[in-house]
Order: sequence, then C-alpha cells, then structure tokens
Amino acid sequence: MKWEHYFSIYERHLERFRGKPARILEIGVYHGGGLDLWRNYFGPDAHITGIDIFDSAKEYETTNTDIVLCDQADTLALETIFSEREPYDIIIDDGGHTMAQQIGSLNALFPLLAPNGVYIIEDTHTSYWSQFEGGLRRPGTCIEYVKSVVDYVNVDHFRGADTLELYEPLKQALKKELVSCSFYDSVCVLEKGDKTPKIVYHYHGDGLQEVVGTSFDIYAEP
Ligand SMILES: C[S@@+](CC[C@H](N)C(=O)[O-])C[C@H]1O[C@@H](n2cnc3c(N)ncnc32)[C@H](O)[C@@H]1O
Repeated sequence: MKWEHYFSIYERHLERFRGKPARILEIGVYHGGGLDLWRNYFGPDAHITGIDIFDSAKEYETTNTDIVLCDQADTLALETIFSEREPYDIIIDDGGHTMAQQIGSLNALFPLLAPNGVYIIEDTHTSYWSQFEGGLRRPGTCIEYVKSVVDYVNVDHFRGADTLELYEPLKQALKKELVSCSFYDSVCVLEKGDKTPKIVYHYHGDGLQEVVGTSFDIYAEP
C-alpha cells in the first residue's frame, strides 16, 4: 500500500535505477502489491527481495524475486542474513512502522546498502501517533532519530569531538557515506554517496575557474 504522493518521491530518488539490474529490498510484503509495483517500475532485470515475518509471504516468490522471513526489529538477524548477500541499491521500509522496527532496520541495513544507494523509510507519520509510541518531538521516535542523523551529512565540517551517540556500525556508515537526508510528508530518504573533500572554485566574469583548495584548506580552524 502506497500513498499517492509517494510516487513523485520515488521518481525523484529512484528513477536512475529504472531498466537496470538494480537490487531492491522491501521490508513488508503483505499481499505482494509492493513487489509488483517495483517489478513494473524497475523492469525484468531488477532483483527484488521482500522481508516479512509471516510464512505466507513466501508465496510471492517468483523469478528474480525472493522472500526472506525475518523480524525487521531483529538487528542481529538482519545483519547476519544481509551481510552475506550482495548489497542492495535500494531499501524501502514499509513493514510494521513501529519505532523499534524502523530504527532497528535502519541501524542494521543502512551500513549494508550499496555505495550510492537509497534508503527509504515509509509511513513516518507513526512517529507522531501515540498508538505507535509517537508524539511531536517525542524522544525515541524514528523521526527524531533521523533528525539526529542529519548532522552526518556535514561530518567533514565538525569542529572538535564527534559526540553524537548512535549505534556504531550505522555511525561509521553515516560518517563515510551519508550525502543527503530528505524529509517528506510521511517519508524519509537517506542517500549514500562519495564524501571525499570538496573542491572550492572561484568563478570569474571571463569564465575562468581557479581551484583554490579543498573545503578543509579554505576554512581551516584558526
Ligand atoms: C504495510 S504492509 C506492507 C505492504 C507492502 N509493502 C505493499 O506495498 O503492498 C506491512 C507488512 O509488514 C509486515 N511486518 C509487520 N511487522 C513486521 C516485522 N516486525 N518484521 C517484518 N515484517 C513485518 C506485515 O506482515 C505486513 O505484511
């Protein structure tokens, strides 16, 4: 099940994988609707994996689509299973939507995402709903957790100690590879990419560009 406005978010972040042999992992199979959607969107060469807790999800296995039975909140099980597989380019969390499930899966799977991969958490409105232990600005919700991760986009510019307390493998992955973190109505998208130091240019009116150093050199701590 997907909300209508999710489709423009998919288009913005996932279009580059269409028609390619991309690897897609979706948490939450239900009646296989998401698996069908991804097959239609990405094409026959994509490899799609679904995760669910119910054995019945296995009936949605087809050519190039497999199902893993696992509790998405069980970080150890996820790490064990998926560290032995080829990395996935896209991970979509559309599972149980509780705080422990969303945060546990992010902790376990973001570090295993492929370079330049995309991690999508859906239905993050549960972070505001009391029946999911949510509430506006309530500590411990998935949305507050992702907010705390945003700083890692700028890790190269931290001055002094890195004091953020996060689950360690996730923290390492965020430091090295988190290049963007987008918040939409009910959806968060975290992207991996290249974090080598950025080159700084001066642009002149005559079109000449002068390389004056990296971001580290230019704004070194006095
Ligand atoms: C919203 S439905 C998935 C819908 C599907 N992605 C689609 O687009 O049609 C949620 C699914 O998550 C599964 N689920 C719930 N808790 C889970 C958990 N702890 N681990 C793995 N899957 C879980 C449920 O069994 C259910 O099939």
